[in-house]
Amino acid sequence: MNRKYRKTIIAGNWKMHKTASQTKVFAERLKGALPRVKRCSIVLCVPYVDIPAAVKILKDSRVAVGAQNLHWEASGPFTGEISAAMLADLDVKYVIIGHSERREYFGESDLIINKKIHAALNAGLRPILCVGEDLEQRDLGVTLEFISYQLKAALAGVSSEEMRRVVIAYEPIWAIGTGNTATPEQAGEVCAAIRGVLRKLYGARIARSTTIQYGGSMNETNAEALLRQEDVDGGLIGTAALDTEKFLQIIQTANQD
Ligand code: 13P
Repeated sequence: MNRKYRKTIIAGNWKMHKTASQTKVFAERLKGALPRVKRCSIVLCVPYVDIPAAVKILKDSRVAVGAQNLHWEASGPFTGEISAAMLADLDVKYVIIGHSERREYFGESDLIINKKIHAALNAGLRPILCVGEDLEQRDLGVTLEFISYQLKAALAGVSSEEMRRVVIAYEPIWAIGTGNTATPEQAGEVCAAIRGVLRKLYGARIARSTTIQYGGSMNETNAEALLRQEDVDGGLIGTAALDTEKFLQIIQTANQD
């Protein structure tokens, strides 16, 4: 982390977990136990149907509510889909775009991800753009090239002004849900390389102030070492964010001096 230049953001990604009733219980507990967080921002990305309950309870707290996906069109005949404006209207502030599960199971291409980034930005949302290599790419030594390509494709046409609202999450696919966390050095190396790509695309000032999170089996025990890396500015947390106590511990860690 480097708090001088950028925000530390701890975000939970619940994926397809928890009903609205369970969300209420979690949000009340989180709100009640939240430490005075001056040094990091907190985001909870919940399933669409849980958004109203989460927003209602977390309204006057330091926790912003996020979504996990959106459709890139403003409206239209897209059965089952949700637009950026619908999310913004519910007081959603963040939206995860390009998660590897969406890329893999729902066939999201780089072009679609780029359209979703624009839709989020146009609606005033802050996209959390996920990038990350699979094990084969890591073994072949092409991780940095691959991530550089993913970033350039997803951010095509995004202005410097808009870039101030974009958060990047480095999520190596082999680390997601496996308990196989990247080492702090591995996470630090790729997050630094991501900042290098942003520097080329947007210049030093924007690169320096962009929040770059790490995600992939981050939990209450490994968060401290990961967050100590200069270029790791927070976490995108799956499994450990389903448990209030674990999520709170990670927040405490990020909030430390
Ligand atoms: P886990 O923390 O369960 O590995 O999930 C990470 C993730 O995919 C967050 O988006």
